[in-house]
Amino acid sequence: MAESTAVETRVIVPEPALEVDDNKDSDSAYGDELSSYSASIASSVQNYEWKHGRRYHSYQAGSYQFPNDEREQDRLNARHHVMLRLMHDRLFLAPIKPDGMRILDIGTGTGIWAMQLGDLYPSAELIVGNDLSPIQPQWVPPNVKFLVDDVEKDWAEAQKYDYIHCRYMAGSIRDWPSLVRQCYNNLKPGGWLELKKGNPRPYSDDDTLKPDNNVALMLQFLCEACDKVGRTLNPAPNFERLVAEAGFKNIEKKMFKLPLGAWPKDPRLKEIGAFMALDFIEGVEAFTLVPFTDVLGWTKEEVDVLNTKVRHDAKRRDVHYVFDYYVVTAQKPE
Ligand SMILES: C[S@@+](CC[C@H](N)C(=O)[O-])C[C@H]1O[C@@H](n2cnc3c(N)ncnc32)[C@H](O)[C@@H]1O
Repeated sequence: MAESTAVETRVIVPEPALEVDDNKDSDSAYGDELSSYSASIASSVQNYEWKHGRRYHSYQAGSYQFPNDEREQDRLNARHHVMLRLMHDRLFLAPIKPDGMRILDIGTGTGIWAMQLGDLYPSAELIVGNDLSPIQPQWVPPNVKFLVDDVEKDWAEAQKYDYIHCRYMAGSIRDWPSLVRQCYNNLKPGGWLELKKGNPRPYSDDDTLKPDNNVALMLQFLCEACDKVGRTLNPAPNFERLVAEAGFKNIEKKMFKLPLGAWPKDPRLKEIGAFMALDFIEGVEAFTLVPFTDVLGWTKEEVDVLNTKVRHDAKRRDVHYVFDYYVVTAQKPE
């Protein structure tokens, strides 16, 4: 089956190398300081755990290694902005019209994607966002609903969806083939799935990124930690194969170049790159604290030293970091 569906897959190859902005003053605006559906939210899921000064969700503790506190929520909202700008301000790339649709956002995080979609499409029938952590706001557009759920368990929802969106879930999921199959089973015939994630291995088109770079090293260690707990940080290159194996048709893979740093000449990419640098400067602790101490066995001090080096390297303007960002859309046959 994989072979025959592969023929139908349209691959839109990565864009050419991004143009570097040689005028250092033009990014001054960004500053040098770039420095099983639960019926309700049970109170037990709010028994959060604190580790190294950060808050983690308590629902099956240990299954998700990243914090859920306000600092992390701010980071997720900023990362949403990055992903939205990278998609040229489109919340989805699947060829759908949300009016009248039942939509699911897997692992919705702060719920920002679901709420923006609800605001933009008041005529969408229902937009459900699920997550292990009940960190979403209570005042939401009338067609948006949040649920606490572990998407790796059987979904108990009786009604099927027209469209399922799954973004930035690497390091979270143990069994991607099973998750994609659950999506297939919970879509109506003709419904669409959209999977989005960047490859965590940065590169540069002009050889400015060297192997001893601390951003690259940190991500290499993080990939190792995620592999060790059986939750890959890099599922994206397999998305196309996974959807084909689950039986999806009309598969399309789009790839975008996601810069880190305000170095690109193009103003939209410069903005994206500046936000990405901030994400690493502000967010590196969220990525490393638990995976590096609990999984890789580092001391907190060792992690702090690496984080300081990562912050330094994330500010370097002479390194033109790029990540490949994958978006795969696929349709359940009618
Ligand atoms: C990196 S965040 C991404 C949030 C959101 N998808 C976005 O793009 O902004 C990952 C989210 O997935 C949630 N998560 C992790 N494992 C999950 C699971 N098994 N079931 C439901 N949510 C999960 C986490 O609680 C976290 O909020």
